[in-house]
Amino acid sequence: MSRKVFLVGDGAVGSTFANDLLQNCNVEELTICDVAKERPVGDSMDLEDITPFMGQTNIHPGEYSDAGDADVCVITAGVPRKPGETRLDLVAKNVKILKSIVKPVVDSGFKGVFVVSANPVDILTTLTQKLSGFPKNRVIGTGTSLDSMRLRVELAKKLNVPVAKVNSMVLGEHGDTSFENFDESLVDNKPLRDYAEINDDVLSEIETDVRKKGGKIIANKGATFYGVAMMLTQIVSAVLDNRSICLPLSAPINGEYGIKHDLYLGTPTVIDGNGISHVIEIKLSKAEQEKMLNSANKMQEVLDGVEL
Ligand code: 2OP
Repeated sequence: MSRKVFLVGDGAVGSTFANDLLQNCNVEELTICDVAKERPVGDSMDLEDITPFMGQTNIHPGEYSDAGDADVCVITAGVPRKPGETRLDLVAKNVKILKSIVKPVVDSGFKGVFVVSANPVDILTTLTQKLSGFPKNRVIGTGTSLDSMRLRVELAKKLNVPVAKVNSMVLGEHGDTSFENFDESLVDNKPLRDYAEINDDVLSEIETDVRKKGGKIIANKGATFYGVAMMLTQIVSAVLDNRSICLPLSAPINGEYGIKHDLYLGTPTVIDGNGISHVIEIKLSKAEQEKMLNSANKMQEVLDGVEL
């Protein structure tokens, strides 16, 4: 592993990710690519000023043709949501941008792992695999990892416990058809539903708060980036370090959960230095199983409307 990262998109998410990555992982080279040519120039100069504390990294702007020897290509580039927009509202614009990225990166000779956060992330991750023709294990999406962190934060606040003690996930689409696996969730190794503070109304409120949190952040500060950048950092660090971790990520479904579609969707996924090691098909209650199928069907409906 040459520990080289190629970043496409130097907006709020990309720039925050670059800073997070350099503070959490030993990176030999970080190449930053953006259609706004001056941003990677400025960010590279700004980021190199942390290297005296963070370790020697060659940071520089670059073009798609520079991706050839990278281990990981991170795609954050895309139009972000505006207040009131859903992630699916971005499909047309961001598929067009994705198509302008994937082919030149593949043409550069890139043979590493794609990591996608641009929205709608399940759609764009599925299309990155189809456009690149890469083996499915070498394309990863941030999926519902961020939603799951938001869920853990809400449950920790509700039950007044450290967030580290909350084991609960959001699954399916990173979007409006996502759902929580409350029936299998544990807090401090005790079933979530055994807590006196928890009932269906409380869980329904938490589900809504988690689903709407991204939109609320955007309404208040214009964009979200700290959370999703940290998820990108966790994924890219695990790949570069060849460290096996499990997160709810946008991963290739191959019949799991009774899904017949060929797409990526949020499910517990083990990743390592080779990308996706395997998907974990967790046991869902009947109601949750129906929600997973509903999410998959919605994603397929959107994919059917996309012309590659
Ligand atoms: C979010 O929910 C960026 O979609 C991401 O914050």
